[in-house]
Amino acid sequence: MPSPIDTSPEVFRQLAEEALRIIEDFYAQLPHAPVMPVTSAQAVRDLLAEPLPEQPAAASEVLAAVRDIVYPLSRHNGHPRFFGYVASPGTAAAAIGDLLASALNANVTSWRSAPAAAEMEHMVIGWLKQITGFAPEGTGLLVSGGSMANFSALAAARTKADPHAGRRGTGHAPDLRIYASTEVHFSIVKGARLLGIGSDNVVLVPTDAAFRMDVAELERRIESDRAAGLRPMCIVANAGAVNTGAFDPLPEIAAIAERHRLWLHVDGAYGGFSALAPSAKPLFTGIDRADSLSLDPHKWLYSSVGCGCLLYREAQPAIATFSHDADYTRPVGLSNDEAFAFWDLGPELSRPFRALPLWLQLKLYGAANLADAVARNIACAQYFADLVTEAPDFELLAPVGLSIFNFRYAPPHYAGDLDPLNEQILLALQRGGSSYLSNTRIHGKFALRGCVLNYRTTEADMRRLLEDLRDAARYCFLRAG
Ligand SMILES: Cc1ncc(COP(=O)(O)O)c(C=O)c1O
Repeated sequence: MPSPIDTSPEVFRQLAEEALRIIEDFYAQLPHAPVMPVTSAQAVRDLLAEPLPEQPAAASEVLAAVRDIVYPLSRHNGHPRFFGYVASPGTAAAAIGDLLASALNANVTSWRSAPAAAEMEHMVIGWLKQITGFAPEGTGLLVSGGSMANFSALAAARTKADPHAGRRGTGHAPDLRIYASTEVHFSIVKGARLLGIGSDNVVLVPTDAAFRMDVAELERRIESDRAAGLRPMCIVANAGAVNTGAFDPLPEIAAIAERHRLWLHVDGAYGGFSALAPSAKPLFTGIDRADSLSLDPHKWLYSSVGCGCLLYREAQPAIATFSHDADYTRPVGLSNDEAFAFWDLGPELSRPFRALPLWLQLKLYGAANLADAVARNIACAQYFADLVTEAPDFELLAPVGLSIFNFRYAPPHYAGDLDPLNEQILLALQRGGSSYLSNTRIHGKFALRGCVLNYRTTEADMRRLLEDLRDAARYCFLRAG
């Protein structure tokens, strides 16, 4: 008697067809659906709450819950006017790739566990090196996201600076120092904390008016730390900072890293794939001098969430950091390429087949179309900045960096505090469901922040965003009486 879990081909087909219909309708409705549902934690909980299901339910009933509760009560990052945070819209190719990868269920720990998946990952890593201009001799792996990539890069950099730190801990050699601009993503600070380097040892270097690292100040801080007996280990440069999209000057920073023999890590989690756009490509000059580069295909390559990447110029420091000889993992009878293990390059052992959706997407769309979409995102952000600059009732708060814009509503003759007004407008905008921005602070001012990261977004969406904000402002003024 077969296991009831061993789904028959007929049941599988029925399940798959119903699931595909849900996805098809989702894609069709996406541009017209509210970006954000108006709901509450309790309301969602009440709709989902039920005891542990002991017995199987009918497939149509279960999938109906996905269609009627899960999909509509989600924030739709794929909506053309979702501009919050740094969120990928996802692609149909990546969704199908995830399904195919999940059905195969390869565990991509090493070559022997998944020969085709391992070779495909090597090849895709080669493509990503080519896109960004990273050192061709480099190596790398796919990870869960930018935070994991940044953490792993810092771990390898720590080994290079202090080969014993991994074994003895950093207690015997405290005060390893990491240098990054004040705009650095918090995952770098978190990584320093988790590695025992300590967040106090992340030196935040001031920036210029365009939020790029002040390189003269960087070098001064390194020299004064050395003079004080501290141990500089690594510089982190932003290739697209999360707040403003600022791109640090790589050639100058690479020269400082080389002069002081420091590891240069580049955080390209947001901006790494802007290398596809001719307007941004010159910013990548010097990237081949970086020791490591974080990338997030699940940001500006539009892939589904769960796909980050870390490139290393030299494998050795990573291997010295992550490899471990255990009897239960040692390959027997394999050598060279077939003895390769991804666990030698990063913290994970079990790993999903992340390369398949990425490969499928690059093959099905082609790098030229992805490049065109990235270039259009940058153009949309610039177009929006022009609209804001020309509008009498809005003000730009920072230069547009890649596809990120920061601004606020500032109507002439308004005598009140603009911070709470803009906060109210943001909430009204998000509740309205037509457009979505997130928020930050720029020079202490509350800022409406947007990031164009969606191949569906057009200039018409940028004009609509401004109108939606004016509607939200009218609503706030009316409510305030
Ligand atoms: C510049 C930068 N670095 C790192 C990260 C973290 O990436 P992830 O969310 O994939 O962990 C982000 C996320 O937005 C980012 O913008």
